[in-house]
Parts: sequence; C-alpha cells; structure tokens
Amino acid sequence: MTDLLSKFDPLIEQRQALLDRGVTDPFNLTMERVESPTVAICNGRRTILLGTYNYMGMTFDPDVIEAGKKALDEFGSGTTGSRVLNGTYQGHRECEAALREFYAMDHAMVFSTGYQANLGIISTLAGKDDYIILDIDSHASIYDGCALGNAQIVPFRHNDLDALEKRLKRVPEGAGKLVVLEGVYSMLGDIAPLKDMIRIAKENGAMVLVDEAHSMGFIGKNGRGVAEAQGVIDDVDFIIGTFSKSVGTVGGFCVSNHPKFEILRLVCRPYVFTASLPPSVVATAATSIRKLMHGSEKRAHLWENSKTLHAGLKKLGFMLGTEEPQSAIIAVIMPNLETGAAMWEALLHEGLYVNLARPPATPQGMTLLRCSLCALHSSQQVEEILGMFEAAGRAVGCIS
Ligand SMILES: Cc1ncc(COP(=O)(O)O)c(C=O)c1O
Repeated sequence: MTDLLSKFDPLIEQRQALLDRGVTDPFNLTMERVESPTVAICNGRRTILLGTYNYMGMTFDPDVIEAGKKALDEFGSGTTGSRVLNGTYQGHRECEAALREFYAMDHAMVFSTGYQANLGIISTLAGKDDYIILDIDSHASIYDGCALGNAQIVPFRHNDLDALEKRLKRVPEGAGKLVVLEGVYSMLGDIAPLKDMIRIAKENGAMVLVDEAHSMGFIGKNGRGVAEAQGVIDDVDFIIGTFSKSVGTVGGFCVSNHPKFEILRLVCRPYVFTASLPPSVVATAATSIRKLMHGSEKRAHLWENSKTLHAGLKKLGFMLGTEEPQSAIIAVIMPNLETGAAMWEALLHEGLYVNLARPPATPQGMTLLRCSLCALHSSQQVEEILGMFEAAGRAVGCIS
C-alpha cells in the first residue's frame, strides 16, 4: 500500500523541527474566551486581538446578537436543505435584499461561505474553453474556482497593468474572458489599481469579477470596497464578498447588475449542492450589513488606527508590506519562518495575537506577521500594541 500521506513528510518534518525548538504551535491556538471584538483569553491570559478579520467589530453588536437569537428561536438551528429546495427561508431573502441595498445592485446571491462564492461563481462563469486572467497573488478560493470550472488559467504579475494587458491580448480571438481581481490583497494589505485594470479588461472585451472580501464595510464612501473608492464600481460585472470579515459572521455572496444573473442559482454547483446558512446566521448578517451602511464614523476611526499602527511600526524599524497604509491590514515582514515564529510567540507572551502567515498563503515565499485592525481598537490599545511590538522585537532581535 502506498501511504498517500507521505507526500506531506517534508511539511511534517518542518513543523516538528519548529516545535522541537520549544516554540508554541502558532497554528493551534485556542481562544478560551472571547470578551469583545478586540480582546480574548488565550493560554489563560488577556490578549489583544490583532489578527482577526473583524474589521468593523460587529461580532458583539447588540442588535446583531439579538437578531440571531430571535431567528434561532423562531426558525430553529438549521435549514437542513439546499437553497434550491427547502433551504431558502425569509431570512435568506432579507439578507439578499440587504446586500442589494448595500451595494445598490440588482442581484445578490448568498452562499454558505466566501470560499464557496468564489468557487461557485468563477467555475460557473468560465468553463473549459474560456480564459481566466487573474492576479498571481489571488486567494486560494479563486484558484480553486478556476480549477473546478476547468477554464484556461492565465496568471499575471501582481498588480501589473502591462502584464494584464499583454496576457489579455494573447487570448485567442472569440474566446470568453474573465478578469479576476481583488480589492485588497490580504497578505500584504495592498490594494489593486482597479480603475486602470478594469479599463484594460473592458478595452479587451473581458468581463470583470472583483473579490472585495477585505474591503467591504471599510473602504469606499459607503463601504462598498476599492471599486467604489476608485469610482469604477459600475464597471464591475460581479463583486464577491464574505460575511466572515467586516460583517462578523459566516457566509459569502455575489452581487451583480447582470440581467441574466438569477439563472446562476440553478447552475452553480457550490450553491445548489450544499445546505444553506442557518437562519440565525443570515439574520445576524442582514442586521450587520444594514448597520454597516451607517458606519462612516467607525470607518474614519479604523483609518486612524491603520495610520497610527503603520507609522509606529515603521518608526520602530520593522519592514512593512506597504510603504503607506492602504487597508486595515498591516503586514510585518519577517526574515524567515524561525524568526517569525519566535516573534509571534514573544508577542503572544506580551498579550498580543497576530497572524503568522507563511507560504503557500503568502507571496514570494515570505513569512509575515499579519496585523489586522478593528474599528473598535481604541487609540490606547493601538499604543499598547506598539509597545508590545517594541518589547518583542528587541527580545527576538528583529529591531535594535
Ligand atoms: C480574498 C478572499 N476571498 C475569499 C475568502 C473566503 O472567505 P470565507 O472565509 O467566507 O470562506 C477569503 C478568506 O480569507 C479571502 O481572503
């Protein structure tokens, strides 16, 4: 018998070597108690959370929690069915209505996760003879969507306008073309030059899908994302998003103005062949989305947090993923996995949780400490965080 797991031996060895150095496993942490969007108890210790996707701090919003409890009481714990059979409740419709209103678009389709939204929409739009031209740093769910549909995949260099144009011009005449972009790239926290990219895509006859997972609720006047901020949201054919970040629960979606959009409900396999979200989840999502429509003060505070943390880390001497803060994500670049893991653990001992990110999730083989800010981090917490980075950085020798 061939052991089908033996292909993972190098990873098993690498992980063991790390643990043998006495480092806490950075990928096996338990949140023993969560007190708020910014504080949890980890290893019995009060810990500031700087590694969640809870950008707008909606997880403990009283209205959101109340809506979830009410739906749980009135509609039960789950739908036990697909959206196209018995799994569409009033709450799913209301959630889609909230999304249509949030984005001012004609259609919205809710999936069970953002991963499934990308998997489903991309694979359904682009089949075997179609071409998907995508940024090489695209999220795994985008790549998996391309693979599921069996489309021809043409990656181009990250955020490179010339590379996008060249790839588009090489697609055979008459073939279907889908350009897939992200608003914010989640590893380095940088944004895409969507305005120019979308212009190039349209000039070359391609449809455009933008994943705004990390910008919803925060970027753009109404929190619709980078496409809104750059004034090109009306030129995007499909926006993909998730409830697992600013919305503060779980689920995914696609919004669009395409007149034939509704047919996707019948032909999109990751929509049809899975159970729909529980009533409590769609109720929390709809309530959260409606509240995010009035989130301008929180958005302003989150930008303040992002600027303060970015400037403070830079001043301390850390190397960051972007020259200027571009989103709620600030990536601190580590020289290697060993130092990254040591720094991650030193921060945890200080009382700070960040994400340790490593390949294949990261670009160019980088190890990163990914900091994601929340609109509910107080200015004092941001100062505390900087103090913790300073202490941990000196202890580990990352800064002098
Ligand atoms: C860019 C991007 N798209 C999609 C997803 C998937 O979202 P979900 O957690 O809802 O599956 C993520 C999750 O991290 C993401 O970063």
